[in-house]
Amino acid sequence: MVQEMEATVIYTHLLKEDLVIIRILPDEGMPEYKTGQFLTIGVNVPAENYKLVRRAYSIASHPENRDYFEFVIRWVRNPLPGRVTTMLFYASVGDKVKLGYPTGNALQINETLPNGEKDMRRIVCVGGGTGLAPFIAFANHLHDVGDKREVIVLHGASYVDELSYRRLLTDLEDESKKREGEWNFKYRAAISRPKEFFNRSWSGHVGRVESFFKEDKSGMSPLDELVGEKCTPENTYIYICGYQGTIDGVIENTTARGFVTSDNKREDGSYEIRYESYG
Ligand SMILES: Cc1cc2nc3c(=O)[nH]c(=O)nc-3n(C[C@H](O)[C@H](O)[C@H](O)COP(=O)(O)OP(=O)(O)OC[C@H]3O[C@@H](n4cnc5c(N)ncnc54)[C@H](O)[C@@H]3O)c2cc1C
Ligand SMILES: NC(=O)c1ccc[n+]([C@@H]2O[C@H](COP(=O)([O-])OP(=O)(O)OC[C@H]3O[C@@H](n4cnc5c(N)ncnc54)[C@H](OP(=O)(O)O)[C@@H]3O)[C@@H](O)[C@H]2O)c1
Repeated sequence: MVQEMEATVIYTHLLKEDLVIIRILPDEGMPEYKTGQFLTIGVNVPAENYKLVRRAYSIASHPENRDYFEFVIRWVRNPLPGRVTTMLFYASVGDKVKLGYPTGNALQINETLPNGEKDMRRIVCVGGGTGLAPFIAFANHLHDVGDKREVIVLHGASYVDELSYRRLLTDLEDESKKREGEWNFKYRAAISRPKEFFNRSWSGHVGRVESFFKEDKSGMSPLDELVGEKCTPENTYIYICGYQGTIDGVIENTTARGFVTSDNKREDGSYEIRYESYG
């Protein structure tokens, strides 16, 4: 039998017509969970005789936040309205949903090197669209526990108004400028449709997010330029959440540097790329 919790929608923030941030609080209180996990949200679908339909969603909030689970959700509308996202886009504060318990190990933060020492390599997070969600959890968790590693969050979106956590991530970067040695954080976004009218104000990186890893003629990538050195498996660990094309693009651009993924481990069990695919 599926183990799940009764829960209540406590906050919704519509970022645009098909992108929403939702906070949900289990009636029994918050269970323990790990940064980067996901859970299922279940809703009764009227068009299907109120059948309970469940879908997986990445948890954007971090385990130190004991007040709610937060999610960033895209309303899937084509070719037909998605069952669960349509219900979530009609949901109001006070509505009830079912929540599965947090699960998933694909995006666990690596803490130790193969020799058992503490892993102090830079953490690079690559989120495509709503695939940014687990990295909001990463950023807030690493900040709250006082982690000293360098953290880079790269977000890819089609439109500027889909940079869902721009303010929070910019604030975290601003804070790092004031707390050198204590908190080391950078955030960059990539806009993939720069010529569209709605993106006319954008002066940052353009292209899909995986292009941050593409080397120029001198052998440096925009990510290398950002951190001030060549990213290698010796100094960097990469986490990706998004379309398979995003994951493949990052792997393609990092393989020649010796990066290895979780499903292609070396003999000693080591690897430096973890990912969760949209499927
Ligand atoms: C680990 C994990 C984490 C995830 N995290 C997130 C997240 O953080 N945010 C997020 O937004 N999503 C996330 N997802 C995706 C999410 O689980 C759902 O797949 C998504 O929200 C769509 O659910 P839905 O019920 O609305 O759509 P569904 O009803 O499942 O529809 C899926 C697709 O099928 C089409 N379809 C439905 N019925 C028909 C039909 N009869 N004929 C033809 N086509 C049809 C729909 O148009 C849609 O394109 C995650 C998925 C996984 C696996
Ligand atoms: N973990 C998961 O499984 C998970 C998590 C979150 C969301 N999802 C699901 O994934 C779907 C789309 O997510 P979204 O709305 O967040 O994405 P999105 O906003 O449509 O796209 C985000 C970025 O990915 C690019 N992109 C689109 N197709 C791509 C491809 N095939 N390869 C590489 N990059 C691509 C887009 O570029 P262009 O501008 O060029 O299109 C854009 O820059 C939704 O149905 C959502 O429910 C799954």
